[in-house]
Amino acid sequence: MTETLAVETGALVKRYENVLALAGLDLAIEPGCFFGLLGPNGAGKTTAVSILCTLLRPTSGEARVFGKDVVRERPAVRPLLGIVFQDPSLDTELTGRENLDIHARLYRLPERAARIEQALDMMDMARDADRGVRSLSGGMRRRLEIARGLLHGPSVLFLDEPTLGLDVHARRSLWQHLERLRDGGLTLVLTTHAMDEAARLCERVAILNEGRIVAAGTPRELCQEVGGDHIELELDRPEDALPLLRAKPNVRDVWMENRTVVITVEHAPTELVPLIETLKTLGIHAVRMREVNLEDAFVHFTGHKIDAAGNLA
Ligand SMILES: Nc1ncnc2c1ncn2[C@@H]1O[C@H](COP(=O)(O)OP(=O)(O)OP(=O)(O)O)[C@@H](O)[C@H]1O
Ligand SMILES: [Mg+2]
Repeated sequence: MTETLAVETGALVKRYENVLALAGLDLAIEPGCFFGLLGPNGAGKTTAVSILCTLLRPTSGEARVFGKDVVRERPAVRPLLGIVFQDPSLDTELTGRENLDIHARLYRLPERAARIEQALDMMDMARDADRGVRSLSGGMRRRLEIARGLLHGPSVLFLDEPTLGLDVHARRSLWQHLERLRDGGLTLVLTTHAMDEAARLCERVAILNEGRIVAAGTPRELCQEVGGDHIELELDRPEDALPLLRAKPNVRDVWMENRTVVITVEHAPTELVPLIETLKTLGIHAVRMREVNLEDAFVHFTGHKIDAAGNLA
């Protein structure tokens, strides 16, 4: 295995009693990369992150962080890692600063006060640091958790579903903070269900399904691999359109999202006119064309649809 990769796993397997959570995971993440680990519920994302963070032992296979083996060289790996868990882990009885202080003492960090100040500054939490965590919004708590994860100056920060449950503004604010960390040279490994988030933030992604990587590359590469364009049609009688469209040789795929008919074709600009000709008796209200996005690629590679609320079905 190469020394220089930030994260590297080889044939990584994790078996719980009767569940194969990771079925041979091969990952390679370059230093300084903003990497996205995507996958439906139960795909094995948290398991992979937990092993990389030395919190869980793999059943077999290898995992290294900056060249150090997460099992055999655990004490050397720990200082390299920053972790923001999927489940919130701040003490809500304490203030933000107190939470960070306990963490700093636990890790016996030198120059505690200065480090805490710097981490709070990085996440724009200095002003609210002395408020009780209980009184903070979800977005502020997340930023505080990230500040805590940064205290010891890690080389790679793992974030498991960091924006779950946050409103639109809090999400965007968190994205900006994460981008700033990336610009500072930190390696970030993010798990998320939100494909807009992954497309916006991640330079490279891997899609996990049932413990295996089913696709990997830049978001653009994954979209290109799926290929084609989508045409969305709002019709008076969408049900009647489905058999007509399925009979068309140029239509690769047809489905309904709410009451909108969505079609995949090779090249929308040339397919559009004949399609409209076919459907003109069905009452066309709106026609939209768009390129394949990461959410389409996710659905393609995992077979899991995402509903209007962003949940996986
Ligand atoms: N402690 C455990 N004991 C038994 N099975 C487990 C345990 N932890 C996880 N699993 C199982 O391992 C599989 C992978 O779980 P994991 O939590 O890694 O998935 P995930 O991709 O993080 O899912 P989510 O998106 O829901 O967070 C699932 O089938 C899960 O039920
Ligand atoms: Mg998880």
